[in-house]
Amino acid sequence: MIYLTRRERFNAAHKLYNDEWSEKKNLEVFGKCSNPNWHGHNYVIYVTVKGEVNPQTGWVIDLKDLSHLLKEEVIEKLDHKNINLDVNFMKSKKASTEVLCIEIWNILFEKIKALGATLHCIKLIETENNYVEYYG
Ligand code: NI
Repeated sequence: MIYLTRRERFNAAHKLYNDEWSEKKNLEVFGKCSNPNWHGHNYVIYVTVKGEVNPQTGWVIDLKDLSHLLKEEVIEKLDHKNINLDVNFMKSKKASTEVLCIEIWNILFEKIKALGATLHCIKLIETENNYVEYYG
């Protein structure tokens, strides 16, 4: 078994907000992250796949295919977008790094299988100091 990781980047806006709560409670819980007029992050995503090396290519996955998949299914949908408003797969979900990471996993899992590898981990970096990892 060998592991391969592809890095991609995107910039997006969001706010953390629970619309069942008052503005005051949102501010207490989410602080600056609940700023009504949004804020942005330069996200970095690491997608790790695993599998056996194909003896005919020496690869676990074709990186061109993986890169194309990530661009089409993840980066183009998120880059320069508002995660709360513009991103279909995040509609009516909390725009946290945790939820975003899980949703990206759900989008990619079967599609990576179709490319002949298994999705192992998604690491989503929101800031220099904060990132999440999801293993399914
Ligand atoms: Ni934020």
